[in-house]
Amino acid sequence: MIGVDSGSSIGTVTAAPVSAGTGVLPAPGTDEKVILSIRDLNVYYGNFHAVGGVSFDVPKNQITALIGPSGCGKSTVLRCINRMNDLIPSARVEGEILYHGQNVVAKGIDPVAVRRRIGMVFQKPNPFPKSIYENISWGAKINGIKGNMDELVETCLRKAALWDEVKDKLKENGLALSGGQQQRLCIARTLAINPDVVLMDEPASALDPISTLKIEDLMRELERQYTIVIVTHNMQQAARVSDQTVFFSLGEQRMGMLVEVSPTRELFTNPRDQRTEDYITGRFG
Ligand SMILES: Nc1ncnc2c1ncn2[C@@H]1O[C@H](COP(=O)(O)OP(=O)(O)OP(=O)(O)O)[C@@H](O)[C@H]1O
Ligand SMILES: [Mg+2]
Repeated sequence: MIGVDSGSSIGTVTAAPVSAGTGVLPAPGTDEKVILSIRDLNVYYGNFHAVGGVSFDVPKNQITALIGPSGCGKSTVLRCINRMNDLIPSARVEGEILYHGQNVVAKGIDPVAVRRRIGMVFQKPNPFPKSIYENISWGAKINGIKGNMDELVETCLRKAALWDEVKDKLKENGLALSGGQQQRLCIARTLAINPDVVLMDEPASALDPISTLKIEDLMRELERQYTIVIVTHNMQQAARVSDQTVFFSLGEQRMGMLVEVSPTRELFTNPRDQRTEDYITGRFG
């Protein structure tokens, strides 16, 4: 059923309705198992066919990892899911990305509304040059979130496993935190918009091993409430942290294509495709 989800909230804070533009995003169904369904996705940059015929489902409240060699289109696919590819002038997207059953790449759907529901965390931590508190409250306010900001800031920092480390210095600049803390601040900021899907493009690749494990633990914690899609170059990380893995490879003329989607344990122990096996055993890529 198509409706406006204006009731979602964190504590006493209420999210803005997402009926911006002519497109209205549907309210989440309580019994759905698949939150995103990618159907025959093709992406072009100018004349270059970067991603061809990609289809897979993203199960709700699970972590899906996208893996594959450099240039196979992992970031491209991820960016399509929350319409970030709209910001690249040469990019053209064909196919469907169904979010709660509604095609978010269709004409008439407001990309800003999509990004409120499907948040993104980038490789390099990118806090605003503002206080830790404002990193969360300011981002939330400009996205139409209203309510008790003290409560929102604390809830989001707790969810991002950062509260204990920063509760006494909320007025300090977010950029003064360590890289791993900055990344958790960016995750907290993303959660403040009240999304139900969080996309992460190599969120730990710039971090030391301890910060990386913290982010991985955090992802496991967050999957109870959110659905996560992560791009990672680190196969151990994909194996440790994800429930489902999607393996992409390069086809003719360097077009990225999907080779295999399987439960993570299965993909790493008993891959169905020879190309997957070659990649995970280090014979390719
Ligand atoms: N803004 C862009 N303009 C033109 N071509 C692009 C752009 N972004 C990506 N591409 C091309 O699309 C293909 C897929 O790139 P993408 O960044 O999605 O790969 P990736 O799998 O994320 O690679 P990596 O593992 O190196 O991050 C590559 O051939 C890349 O050169
Ligand atoms: Mg990439």
